[in-house]
Amino acid sequence: MRVLGIETSCDETGVAVYDSDAGLLGHELYSQIKLHAEYGGVVPELASRDHVRKLIPLIDEILLRTNSKNKIDAVAYTCGPGLIGALLVGSCIGRSLAFAWGVPAIGVHHMEGHLLAPLLEENPPAFPFVALLVSGGHTQLVEVKGIGHYRMLGESLDDAAGEAFDKAAKMMDLDYPGGPHIAKLAERGTPGRFVFPRPMTDRPGLDFSFSGLKTYTLNTVAKHAGEDGLPDDQCCADIAHAFQEAVVDTLSIKCRRALEQCGMNSLIIAGGVSANTRLREKLEHALKKINSQVFYARHEFCTDNGAMIAYAGCQRLLAGEQQGLSVDVFPRWPLDSLGAL
Ligand code: KG4
Ligand code: ZN
Repeated sequence: MRVLGIETSCDETGVAVYDSDAGLLGHELYSQIKLHAEYGGVVPELASRDHVRKLIPLIDEILLRTNSKNKIDAVAYTCGPGLIGALLVGSCIGRSLAFAWGVPAIGVHHMEGHLLAPLLEENPPAFPFVALLVSGGHTQLVEVKGIGHYRMLGESLDDAAGEAFDKAAKMMDLDYPGGPHIAKLAERGTPGRFVFPRPMTDRPGLDFSFSGLKTYTLNTVAKHAGEDGLPDDQCCADIAHAFQEAVVDTLSIKCRRALEQCGMNSLIIAGGVSANTRLREKLEHALKKINSQVFYARHEFCTDNGAMIAYAGCQRLLAGEQQGLSVDVFPRWPLDSLGAL
């Protein structure tokens, strides 16, 4: 089965063609980062309009490049969670194309897409495993017994990990999205100059909270700020380092705890923050000690992309699911409400 995948839930327009026999045939991504940069975050209406401009040319390009014209067996598109206008663009175009081509369509849960993205890589883990989903909007630990077989183990009570990276970056006048900028700056940071708290690690449970860490960061920035309102370059690097260490340590302590609690030895990390090199290093080190292993997708499939949607949609279509003719989007949609295959 050859599936066209479409992702438009936020600020990336992603398309891909996945074939259940041949694997991923290709993907294309257009990022709106530059469009939103001057606003310091995603502007929903601008995002929707840009998806309208970019999606059809990208679909044309991927069909041509993968030699898939007239060969698509189904269309998968993100229908939630995300920005309602942005979701509507991909869902309307995806559903309409499937209707015009006379093939089945399926709406995909964006976070299920992220969760399954590491399975696109060579030597993927077998079920069951624990998944850490860390994106701009979510921080969740999930027990995964199979596709759709999800039990929420813990999640953030306030800010998501990616959101915390973005806000910390903004405090130091770094561009949006801040995660990659903090990570780059942290490389030059002096280990140990600042030590930030590891929230909620001193009590049992698998929930997270990053808002206190955000305040701690803000206070540290304010305390060391010069006349221009910012600490000097080295001090910013030291703060970025301390901030990243605190987030990464907190995530890795909870991941280890989740694996032990579930009696499992495979962990998948997915979503934008799973691209963080320090997080990968820390987890590899921590899990080795308990004979466990961490799996993740290549960098370009950690952040939003069409490949993960084509893949997740294909798995559900192969199990016999498909969408009716209506276009339904779900800006809020709990992952553990999905049906198991
Ligand atoms: O999964 P994603 O592309 O979009 C959502 O579904 O939210 O995640 C975006 C988030 C942003 O908050 C961004 O700052 C963060 O992932 N991110 C990173 C890194 N790359 C992206 N955070 C830390 N380190 C990175 N290398
Ligand atoms: Zn995402």
